[in-house]
Amino acid sequence: MDSEANNQSIVPKKEPNDFIFGRVLGEGSFSTVYLAKDIQSGKEFAIKVCEKRHILREKKQQYVKREKEVLMLLSKHAKTSAPFFVRLFCTFQDHSSLYFVLTRATNGDLLTYLQKAEKFEEDVARFYTAELVHAVEHMHLLGVIHRDLKPENILLDTHRHILITDFGSAKIIPQPPFLPETENSDGTARRSSFVGTAQYVSPEILTDKRSSPASDLWAIGCILYQMLDGNPPFQARSEYAIFQKILKLEFQYPPLFPSVAQDFISKLLVIDSKERLGAQDFGGYPSIKNHRFFESIDFDTLHLKTPPRPT
Ligand code: ADE
Repeated sequence: MDSEANNQSIVPKKEPNDFIFGRVLGEGSFSTVYLAKDIQSGKEFAIKVCEKRHILREKKQQYVKREKEVLMLLSKHAKTSAPFFVRLFCTFQDHSSLYFVLTRATNGDLLTYLQKAEKFEEDVARFYTAELVHAVEHMHLLGVIHRDLKPENILLDTHRHILITDFGSAKIIPQPPFLPETENSDGTARRSSFVGTAQYVSPEILTDKRSSPASDLWAIGCILYQMLDGNPPFQARSEYAIFQKILKLEFQYPPLFPSVAQDFISKLLVIDSKERLGAQDFGGYPSIKNHRFFESIDFDTLHLKTPPRPT
């Protein structure tokens, strides 16, 4: 199964007939994810199917190509260093579709858990935020900005550890000393038409359409707020009204919102992306991990812990 992640492998290329396709696990704007069983091994996977006709019609070729590149980059060392991402095992195609064979997350997504629980207790929110910070730190060290972090894109594996998914909006920042023409000298990505998902989008993407790793840090602030409150911080009837609130930093903490979490979130939900906690860190996010909110967390052994049951 490692034919893509390890191109030294002599495993023959897989094809659709090697799998039994089951129910739909999820649907995106130009793809459908199916539960699938590898007939030979009996193992279950999630297979993302992108219809070529649809991709061409919607001009999404760049997004699909980017998603594959990012998944391959993250999957290269998946066994040893990056447990918190869905892994790409292989890809194949037929005349009509492209297929991505991915880790199947057996416990669904974080949004569903959150909606069932209404909101999380502080320790549960802390644990999942810590896993998210750890994963985002790893991703950023590899030069990948996700740009669409939200509870729907955080899946949960058999043990309820997180698996970040959906890299269709991601951006790869080439590592210095190479700065190709698509990047600016300050490392911010060139202007693009992308905005992500309204509730989690950072102000710099709205004002100058430039994303940076700090755009993912803003999203982490929104997601933690949502885990503790039940709703994301910026909500309104229309996307336009949400954007106005984001640009004015118009949100409040409800009474009894945990105070240390409040301090942490307020250091991430900062309009100037350079002033966000972690934005000035070099090589990892020590200033985020050392915040008092994470006092009880050992980031190096998170993947060995039993995640608290989301309640
Ligand atoms: N829905 C979307 N992607 C999925 C995955 N990898 N596992 C389970 N459900 C999913």
